[in-house]
Amino acid sequence: MHPWAEINFKIIKPFNFDLLVILNTAGSFVRWTEKENLVSRSTVPSIREQKVVHGSKPLVMVTAYDAPGARMVDEAGVDMILVGDSLAMVVLGYEDTLQVTVDDIAHHTAAVARTKPSALVVADLPWLSYHISVEETVNNAAKLIRAGAHAVKLEGGRNRIPMIEALLSAEIPVMGHLGLTPQSINAMGGFKVQARDTKGALDLVSAAKALEHAGCFSIVLEGVPFQVASMVTSSVDIPTIGIGAGSDCDGQVLVLHDLLGFEKRIIPRFVRSYAQFHLDGVSALREFVNDVKTGSFPSKGESYCLSSETSDELGLYGAI
Ligand code: KIV
Repeated sequence: MHPWAEINFKIIKPFNFDLLVILNTAGSFVRWTEKENLVSRSTVPSIREQKVVHGSKPLVMVTAYDAPGARMVDEAGVDMILVGDSLAMVVLGYEDTLQVTVDDIAHHTAAVARTKPSALVVADLPWLSYHISVEETVNNAAKLIRAGAHAVKLEGGRNRIPMIEALLSAEIPVMGHLGLTPQSINAMGGFKVQARDTKGALDLVSAAKALEHAGCFSIVLEGVPFQVASMVTSSVDIPTIGIGAGSDCDGQVLVLHDLLGFEKRIIPRFVRSYAQFHLDGVSALREFVNDVKTGSFPSKGESYCLSSETSDELGLYGAI
């Protein structure tokens, strides 16, 4: 019999976190443990083997850049949290992703990691942090790992192989990113769908194979025709995670702020919007503004009160 079959669990909530009290079948106390220690965690090896063709369910990755965002996406059951360099555009207000630094990503990775999610935390290596030398690449990736990431993601194909090999020999797992690579916005002439012709499609398949061969544990495929994403997915034995790459990938990734509607803006065709946080937020804030202006906030119940003795001592008769 499996040892766990002999025990019962009881959840108590003494403070903010769950404790599992483990009882034996007779109901006697065995030991307690923090619930999080028993939650199964995504790991690089567990993600690496999740190919849909082998019967796995599609993987889900969502970005997060802070503790509340990370708690939300983790509670929803994602497999991976990406601290993406989209941070630049969706949180820091820049026009493209080229403006964020390793320190920016490390700062936000640490906030995500402090929530101790069950999901695997992947941090983006920002532009120019892995282009100059293998030493710089490893040192920059190490900052993200020390901030709490379990793996790093970088953009590009064959030209990144020496950096990927150096990272792997420093025991840093690497996720690749091919297709529309936002850090190449200037070279690509804008955010444009890639691999639309035969050469582009075959080059993409070959780049994906090179990344797999170099040791990447998965590859993001962004902004490519779904047929090309499908070709890539069936050409490699590591999971492909699509964004704007159709349904034949081994998983999907979206930016948290896009899928929750944090901004009032036109969203790209590949985003499905699941909430209207901006509209809901503005309307809630309008109510707050109105409540303050009209004096209905705060009420007595939303205020602290002196004891009647102190109130009397202060001569505040009838003020309660
Ligand atoms: O930075 C990011 O959010 C990304 C995803 C779009 C894949 O790289």
